[in-house]
Amino acid sequence: MTATTRTRVAIIGAGPAGLLLSHLLGQAGIESIVIDQRTREEIEHTIRAGILEHGTAEVLAATGASDRVKTVGHRHDGIELRFAGEGHRIDFAALTGRGVWLYPQHEVLIDLIAVRLAAGQDLRFGVTAVAVEGADTDRPVVHATTADGEPLVIEADFVVGADGSRSVARTAVTGSTTGGYFREYPFAWFGILCEAPPSAPELIYSNSPNGFALISQRSATVQRMYFQCDPEIDPESLSEREIWDDLRSRVDGHELLEGPIFQRDVLRFRSFVAHELRRGRVALVGDAAHTVPPTGAKGMNLAVADVLLLDRALRALLLDGDERPLDRYAETALRRIWKAQHFSWWMTSMLHVAPDASDFDRLRQLGELRSVVESEAGRRYLAEAYTGWPFETEL
Ligand code: PHB
Repeated sequence: MTATTRTRVAIIGAGPAGLLLSHLLGQAGIESIVIDQRTREEIEHTIRAGILEHGTAEVLAATGASDRVKTVGHRHDGIELRFAGEGHRIDFAALTGRGVWLYPQHEVLIDLIAVRLAAGQDLRFGVTAVAVEGADTDRPVVHATTADGEPLVIEADFVVGADGSRSVARTAVTGSTTGGYFREYPFAWFGILCEAPPSAPELIYSNSPNGFALISQRSATVQRMYFQCDPEIDPESLSEREIWDDLRSRVDGHELLEGPIFQRDVLRFRSFVAHELRRGRVALVGDAAHTVPPTGAKGMNLAVADVLLLDRALRALLLDGDERPLDRYAETALRRIWKAQHFSWWMTSMLHVAPDASDFDRLRQLGELRSVVESEAGRRYLAEAYTGWPFETEL
Protein backbone atom coordinates (compact mmCIF):
# COMPACT_ATOMS: atom_id res chain seq x y z
CA MET A 1 0.00 0.00 0.00
CA THR A 2 1.40 3.38 -0.97
CA ALA A 3 0.61 6.15 1.51
CA THR A 4 -0.28 9.47 -0.12
CA THR A 5 -0.13 12.76 1.67
CA ARG A 6 -0.86 16.32 0.52
CA THR A 7 0.80 19.57 1.36
CA ARG A 8 1.28 22.99 -0.18
CA VAL A 9 5.08 22.88 -0.42
CA ALA A 10 7.04 19.61 -0.37
CA ILE A 11 10.64 20.30 0.59
CA ILE A 12 13.28 17.63 0.01
CA GLY A 13 16.20 18.08 2.39
CA ALA A 14 16.40 19.18 6.03
CA GLY A 15 19.59 21.19 5.64
CA PRO A 16 19.80 24.93 6.27
CA ALA A 17 18.00 25.76 2.99
CA GLY A 18 15.05 23.38 3.40
CA LEU A 19 14.48 24.06 7.09
CA LEU A 20 14.75 27.83 6.78
CA LEU A 21 12.37 27.88 3.82
CA SER A 22 9.84 25.81 5.76
CA HIS A 23 10.20 28.17 8.73
CA LEU A 24 9.66 31.32 6.61
CA LEU A 25 6.72 29.82 4.72
CA GLY A 26 5.20 28.77 8.04
CA GLN A 27 5.34 32.37 9.22
CA ALA A 28 3.25 33.32 6.16
CA GLY A 29 0.74 30.57 7.00
CA ILE A 30 1.91 28.29 4.18
CA GLU A 31 2.08 24.65 5.21
CA SER A 32 4.98 22.45 4.11
CA ILE A 33 6.43 18.99 4.64
CA VAL A 34 10.20 18.57 4.93
CA ILE A 35 11.73 15.14 4.33
CA ASP A 36 15.34 14.04 4.68
CA GLN A 37 16.94 10.64 4.24
CA ARG A 38 19.24 11.19 7.22
CA THR A 39 18.35 10.76 10.88
CA ARG A 40 17.98 13.79 13.12
CA GLU A 41 21.13 12.65 14.96
CA GLU A 42 23.16 12.59 11.78
CA ILE A 43 21.95 16.03 10.68
CA GLU A 44 22.66 17.56 14.07
CA HIS A 45 26.14 16.07 14.38
CA THR A 46 27.71 16.28 10.94
CA ILE A 47 30.55 18.79 11.09
CA ARG A 48 30.37 21.47 8.41
CA ALA A 49 31.75 24.94 7.90
CA GLY A 50 31.09 27.69 10.34
CA ILE A 51 30.96 31.23 8.95
CA LEU A 52 27.73 33.22 8.66
CA GLU A 53 27.67 36.43 6.68
CA HIS A 54 26.40 39.52 8.46
CA GLY A 55 23.04 39.30 6.61
CA THR A 56 22.64 35.54 7.23
CA ALA A 57 23.05 36.03 10.98
CA GLU A 58 20.56 38.93 10.87
CA VAL A 59 17.96 36.81 9.06
CA LEU A 60 18.36 33.85 11.42
CA ALA A 61 18.05 36.07 14.49
CA ALA A 62 15.29 38.40 13.20
CA THR A 63 13.00 35.60 11.98
CA GLY A 64 13.35 33.59 15.19
CA ALA A 65 15.08 30.78 13.27
CA SER A 66 18.02 30.82 15.68
CA ASP A 67 18.14 32.80 18.89
CA ARG A 68 21.56 31.37 19.79
CA VAL A 69 23.47 32.66 16.77
CA LYS A 70 24.41 35.90 18.47
CA THR A 71 24.81 34.53 21.98
CA VAL A 72 26.67 31.27 21.37
CA GLY A 73 28.23 32.44 18.08
CA HIS A 74 31.29 34.68 17.97
CA ARG A 75 31.42 37.87 15.95
CA HIS A 76 34.59 38.26 13.90
CA ASP A 77 35.50 41.68 12.56
CA GLY A 78 38.26 40.53 10.25
CA ILE A 79 40.46 37.74 8.95
CA GLU A 80 44.19 37.41 8.44
CA LEU A 81 45.68 36.69 5.03
CA ARG A 82 49.10 35.18 5.56
CA PHE A 83 51.81 34.76 2.92
CA ALA A 84 55.60 35.04 2.62
CA GLY A 85 55.86 34.57 6.38
CA GLU A 86 53.74 37.61 7.31
CA GLY A 87 50.13 38.15 8.36
CA HIS A 88 47.95 40.95 6.92
CA ARG A 89 44.66 41.72 8.64
CA ILE A 90 41.60 42.50 6.54
CA ASP A 91 39.58 44.70 8.86
CA PHE A 92 35.97 44.00 7.86
CA ALA A 93 34.45 46.39 10.39
CA ALA A 94 36.57 49.35 9.26
CA LEU A 95 36.15 48.55 5.56
CA THR A 96 32.44 47.69 5.43
CA GLY A 97 30.93 48.38 8.86
CA ARG A 98 30.00 44.69 9.00
CA GLY A 99 31.42 41.50 10.44
CA VAL A 100 30.72 37.77 10.20
CA TRP A 101 29.65 35.22 12.80
CA LEU A 102 31.49 32.03 13.59
CA TYR A 103 28.58 29.70 14.32
CA PRO A 104 28.85 26.17 12.92
CA GLN A 105 26.23 24.91 10.50
CA HIS A 106 25.19 21.99 12.69
CA GLU A 107 24.29 24.46 15.45
CA VAL A 108 22.08 26.34 12.95
CA LEU A 109 20.44 23.01 12.13
CA ILE A 110 19.86 22.16 15.81
CA ASP A 111 18.12 25.55 16.20
CA LEU A 112 16.04 25.22 13.04
CA ILE A 113 14.90 21.67 13.81
CA ALA A 114 13.86 22.69 17.33
CA VAL A 115 11.90 25.68 15.99
CA ARG A 116 10.17 23.60 13.30
CA LEU A 117 9.19 20.85 15.74
CA ALA A 118 7.98 23.38 18.33
CA ALA A 119 5.70 24.85 15.64
CA GLY A 120 4.19 21.40 15.08
CA GLN A 121 5.81 21.20 11.66
CA ASP A 122 5.69 18.00 9.57
CA LEU A 123 9.38 17.15 9.50
CA ARG A 124 10.22 13.53 8.58
CA PHE A 125 13.64 11.98 9.03
CA GLY A 126 14.80 8.76 7.37
CA VAL A 127 12.58 9.42 4.33
CA THR A 128 14.42 9.09 1.01
CA ALA A 129 13.19 10.94 -2.06
CA VAL A 130 13.34 8.69 -5.10
CA ALA A 131 11.93 10.92 -7.86
CA VAL A 132 10.04 14.13 -8.50
CA GLU A 133 7.37 14.12 -11.18
CA GLY A 134 4.90 16.55 -12.71
CA ALA A 135 7.09 19.68 -12.74
CA ASP A 136 5.08 21.00 -15.67
CA THR A 137 1.71 20.43 -14.00
CA ASP A 138 0.23 22.28 -11.02
CA ARG A 139 0.30 19.07 -8.95
CA PRO A 140 3.95 18.03 -8.73
CA VAL A 141 4.64 14.86 -6.77
CA VAL A 142 7.54 13.51 -4.69
CA HIS A 143 7.98 9.74 -4.66
CA ALA A 144 9.81 8.63 -1.53
CA THR A 145 10.59 5.64 0.68
CA THR A 146 10.07 5.79 4.44
CA ALA A 147 12.53 4.59 7.07
CA ASP A 148 10.54 1.29 7.16
CA GLY A 149 10.96 0.83 3.42
CA GLU A 150 7.33 1.76 2.65
CA PRO A 151 6.55 3.83 -0.43
CA LEU A 152 5.28 7.37 0.22
CA VAL A 153 3.83 9.85 -2.26
CA ILE A 154 3.68 13.55 -1.43
CA GLU A 155 1.40 15.65 -3.62
CA ALA A 156 2.03 19.37 -3.46
CA ASP A 157 1.39 22.71 -5.09
CA PHE A 158 5.14 23.19 -5.33
CA VAL A 159 8.24 21.03 -4.78
CA VAL A 160 11.58 22.39 -3.60
CA GLY A 161 14.84 20.48 -4.03
CA ALA A 162 16.97 21.47 -1.05
CA ASP A 163 18.62 18.07 -1.17
CA GLY A 164 22.26 18.94 -1.49
CA SER A 165 24.89 18.30 -4.11
CA ARG A 166 23.57 14.80 -4.93
CA SER A 167 20.07 16.18 -5.49
CA VAL A 168 17.31 13.87 -6.67
CA ALA A 169 15.08 16.84 -7.49
CA ARG A 170 17.66 18.21 -9.93
CA THR A 171 16.66 15.63 -12.56
CA ALA A 172 13.12 17.03 -12.63
CA VAL A 173 14.51 20.51 -13.26
CA THR A 174 17.50 20.03 -15.56
CA GLY A 175 16.73 16.63 -17.06
CA SER A 176 19.80 14.96 -15.51
CA THR A 177 21.46 14.57 -12.10
CA THR A 178 24.62 16.27 -13.27
CA GLY A 179 23.51 18.93 -15.79
CA GLY A 180 25.43 22.07 -14.94
CA TYR A 181 28.52 24.22 -15.25
CA PHE A 182 31.38 22.90 -13.20
CA ARG A 183 35.03 23.01 -12.39
CA GLU A 184 37.14 20.58 -10.40
CA TYR A 185 40.25 21.36 -8.38
CA PRO A 186 43.40 19.23 -8.15
CA PHE A 187 43.45 19.47 -4.33
CA ALA A 188 41.23 18.93 -1.30
CA TRP A 189 41.22 19.96 2.37
CA PHE A 190 42.39 17.79 5.23
CA GLY A 191 40.24 18.98 8.16
CA ILE A 192 40.75 18.35 11.85
CA LEU A 193 38.98 19.09 15.10
CA CYS A 194 41.29 19.21 18.09
CA GLU A 195 41.15 19.93 21.79
CA ALA A 196 43.32 23.00 22.22
CA PRO A 197 43.04 26.69 22.96
CA PRO A 198 42.65 29.00 19.93
CA SER A 199 45.86 29.63 18.00
CA ALA A 200 44.55 33.00 16.82
CA PRO A 201 41.64 35.32 17.69
CA GLU A 202 40.39 35.37 14.06
CA LEU A 203 40.59 33.05 11.06
CA ILE A 204 43.93 32.80 9.27
CA TYR A 205 43.94 31.97 5.55
CA SER A 206 47.53 31.07 4.75
CA ASN A 207 49.33 30.68 1.44
CA SER A 208 52.74 29.01 1.70
CA PRO A 209 55.10 27.28 -0.71
CA ASN A 210 53.82 23.99 0.80
CA GLY A 211 50.19 24.83 0.10
CA PHE A 212 47.20 26.36 1.84
CA ALA A 213 46.07 26.22 5.48
CA LEU A 214 43.08 27.66 7.31
CA ILE A 215 43.17 28.14 11.05
CA SER A 216 39.59 28.37 12.30
CA GLN A 217 38.02 28.01 15.72
CA ARG A 218 35.03 26.40 17.36
CA SER A 219 35.25 27.40 21.04
CA ALA A 220 37.72 28.20 23.81
CA THR A 221 38.68 24.51 23.94
CA VAL A 222 37.97 23.10 20.44
CA GLN A 223 39.63 24.24 17.23
CA ARG A 224 39.01 23.53 13.54
CA MET A 225 41.93 23.60 11.10
CA TYR A 226 42.44 22.58 7.50
CA PHE A 227 45.36 22.14 5.15
CA GLN A 228 45.59 21.52 1.44
CA CYS A 229 46.02 17.83 0.54
CA ASP A 230 45.83 15.35 -2.31
CA PRO A 231 42.12 14.52 -2.89
CA GLU A 232 42.98 10.79 -2.82
CA ILE A 233 44.62 10.78 0.62
CA ASP A 234 43.24 8.40 3.26
CA PRO A 235 42.49 10.56 6.34
CA GLU A 236 43.77 7.79 8.62
CA SER A 237 47.12 7.55 6.83
CA LEU A 238 48.73 10.45 8.73
CA SER A 239 49.89 10.37 12.36
CA GLU A 240 48.98 13.28 14.63
CA ARG A 241 52.62 14.38 14.48
CA GLU A 242 52.54 14.42 10.68
CA ILE A 243 49.30 16.43 10.69
CA TRP A 244 50.75 19.08 13.00
CA ASP A 245 53.95 19.22 10.97
CA ASP A 246 51.93 19.67 7.75
CA LEU A 247 49.85 22.42 9.34
CA ARG A 248 52.92 24.20 10.72
CA SER A 249 54.72 24.09 7.39
CA ARG A 250 51.73 25.85 5.83
CA VAL A 251 51.28 28.67 8.33
CA ASP A 252 54.82 29.84 7.77
CA GLY A 253 55.97 30.87 11.21
CA HIS A 254 52.63 31.43 12.97
CA GLU A 255 52.61 29.69 16.36
CA LEU A 256 50.06 26.82 16.56
CA LEU A 257 48.79 25.49 19.89
CA GLU A 258 48.55 21.71 19.58
CA GLY A 259 46.19 19.30 21.28
CA PRO A 260 44.64 15.85 20.74
CA ILE A 261 42.95 15.48 17.34
CA PHE A 262 39.53 13.85 17.76
CA GLN A 263 38.15 14.13 14.26
CA ARG A 264 39.67 14.18 10.81
CA ASP A 265 38.12 14.30 7.35
CA VAL A 266 39.01 14.99 3.75
CA LEU A 267 36.82 17.54 1.95
CA ARG A 268 36.83 17.25 -1.81
CA PHE A 269 35.37 20.23 -3.51
CA ARG A 270 34.31 21.67 -6.82
CA SER A 271 32.46 24.62 -8.28
CA PHE A 272 29.06 23.80 -9.76
CA VAL A 273 25.96 25.66 -10.97
CA ALA A 274 22.98 23.72 -12.33
CA HIS A 275 21.94 24.66 -15.88
CA GLU A 276 18.42 25.42 -14.63
CA LEU A 277 17.20 26.38 -11.15
CA ARG A 278 13.50 25.97 -11.82
CA ARG A 279 11.13 24.17 -14.08
CA GLY A 280 7.40 24.78 -13.69
CA ARG A 281 6.48 23.91 -10.14
CA VAL A 282 9.86 22.58 -9.01
CA ALA A 283 12.78 24.76 -7.90
CA LEU A 284 16.28 24.10 -6.56
CA VAL A 285 17.95 25.94 -3.66
CA GLY A 286 21.31 25.68 -1.89
CA ASP A 287 23.78 22.93 -2.79
CA ALA A 288 21.22 21.24 -5.05
CA ALA A 289 21.50 24.33 -7.28
CA HIS A 290 25.20 25.13 -6.80
CA THR A 291 28.28 24.21 -4.83
CA VAL A 292 31.31 26.34 -4.09
CA PRO A 293 34.76 25.49 -2.74
CA PRO A 294 34.84 26.28 0.99
CA THR A 295 37.60 28.89 0.80
CA GLY A 296 35.17 31.81 0.56
CA ALA A 297 32.86 30.44 3.31
CA LYS A 298 29.89 31.00 1.00
CA GLY A 299 28.03 27.64 0.95
CA MET A 300 25.40 28.08 3.64
CA ASN A 301 25.16 31.82 3.04
CA LEU A 302 24.29 31.32 -0.61
CA ALA A 303 21.63 28.81 0.40
CA VAL A 304 20.04 31.39 2.70
CA ALA A 305 20.07 34.02 -0.08
CA ASP A 306 18.27 31.56 -2.45
CA VAL A 307 15.71 30.78 0.22
CA LEU A 308 14.87 34.44 0.88
CA LEU A 309 14.06 34.84 -2.82
CA LEU A 310 12.11 31.62 -3.15
CA ASP A 311 10.13 32.35 0.01
CA ARG A 312 8.99 35.63 -1.52
CA ALA A 313 8.19 33.98 -4.85
CA LEU A 314 6.16 31.20 -3.19
CA ARG A 315 4.21 33.65 -1.02
CA ALA A 316 3.24 35.56 -4.19
CA LEU A 317 2.30 32.34 -5.99
CA LEU A 318 0.45 30.56 -3.21
CA LEU A 319 -1.18 33.50 -1.41
CA ASP A 320 -1.89 35.87 -4.33
CA GLY A 321 -1.77 33.63 -7.41
CA ASP A 322 0.99 35.87 -8.78
CA GLU A 323 3.54 33.89 -10.81
CA ARG A 324 5.73 36.82 -11.79
CA PRO A 325 8.20 36.73 -8.85
CA LEU A 326 8.66 32.99 -9.42
CA ASP A 327 9.43 33.67 -13.06
CA ARG A 328 12.26 35.96 -11.92
CA TYR A 329 13.61 33.60 -9.21
CA ALA A 330 16.35 31.89 -11.24
CA GLU A 331 17.66 35.01 -12.94
CA THR A 332 17.78 37.00 -9.69
CA ALA A 333 19.34 34.18 -7.65
CA LEU A 334 21.95 33.52 -10.34
CA ARG A 335 23.35 37.03 -10.11
CA ARG A 336 24.49 36.41 -6.52
CA ILE A 337 25.38 32.78 -7.21
CA TRP A 338 27.86 33.73 -9.94
CA LYS A 339 29.36 36.51 -7.83
CA ALA A 340 29.88 33.98 -5.05
CA GLN A 341 31.23 31.44 -7.55
CA HIS A 342 33.76 33.98 -8.68
CA PHE A 343 34.75 34.95 -5.13
CA SER A 344 35.11 31.32 -4.01
CA TRP A 345 37.14 30.40 -7.08
CA TRP A 346 39.30 33.54 -6.65
CA MET A 347 40.05 32.90 -2.97
CA THR A 348 40.78 29.25 -3.79
CA SER A 349 43.11 29.94 -6.70
CA MET A 350 44.88 32.80 -4.92
CA LEU A 351 45.60 30.80 -1.77
CA HIS A 352 46.28 27.21 -2.91
CA VAL A 353 49.31 25.89 -4.70
CA ALA A 354 48.35 23.76 -7.72
CA PRO A 355 50.41 20.54 -7.99
CA ASP A 356 51.75 21.67 -11.38
CA ALA A 357 52.40 25.32 -10.37
CA SER A 358 55.50 26.80 -12.03
CA ASP A 359 57.79 29.40 -10.44
CA PHE A 360 55.98 31.98 -12.54
CA ASP A 361 52.61 30.88 -11.10
CA ARG A 362 53.96 31.08 -7.53
CA LEU A 363 55.47 34.53 -7.91
CA ARG A 364 52.42 35.85 -9.74
CA GLN A 365 50.26 34.57 -6.86
CA LEU A 366 52.34 36.49 -4.33
CA GLY A 367 51.97 39.56 -6.53
CA GLU A 368 48.22 39.05 -6.50
CA LEU A 369 48.12 38.73 -2.69
CA ARG A 370 50.23 41.86 -2.30
CA SER A 371 48.01 43.81 -4.66
CA VAL A 372 45.02 42.90 -2.46
CA VAL A 373 46.50 43.63 0.97
CA GLU A 374 48.38 46.78 -0.03
CA SER A 375 45.35 48.45 -1.61
CA GLU A 376 42.37 49.67 0.36
CA ALA A 377 40.20 48.94 -2.69
CA GLY A 378 41.56 45.38 -2.78
CA ARG A 379 40.93 44.82 0.91
CA ARG A 380 37.47 46.33 0.62
CA TYR A 381 36.54 44.07 -2.31
CA LEU A 382 37.49 41.04 -0.23
CA ALA A 383 35.72 42.36 2.87
CA GLU A 384 32.49 43.17 0.99
CA ALA A 385 32.36 39.75 -0.60
CA TYR A 386 33.29 37.85 2.58
CA THR A 387 30.83 39.66 4.86
CA GLY A 388 28.19 39.31 2.12
CA TRP A 389 26.64 41.58 -0.47
CA PRO A 390 23.25 43.08 0.45
CA PHE A 391 20.32 40.76 -0.23
CA GLU A 392 18.12 41.54 -3.25
CA THR A 393 14.99 43.30 -2.07
CA GLU A 394 13.13 43.16 -5.38
CA LEU A 395 11.96 40.05 -7.17
C1 PHB B 1 35.22 26.48 9.34
O1 PHB B 1 35.41 27.03 10.42
O2 PHB B 1 34.85 25.29 9.25
C2 PHB B 1 35.45 27.25 8.07
C3 PHB B 1 35.67 28.61 8.15
C4 PHB B 1 35.92 29.35 6.99
C5 PHB B 1 35.94 28.71 5.77
C6 PHB B 1 35.70 27.35 5.69
C7 PHB B 1 35.46 26.62 6.84
O3 PHB B 1 36.21 29.43 4.65
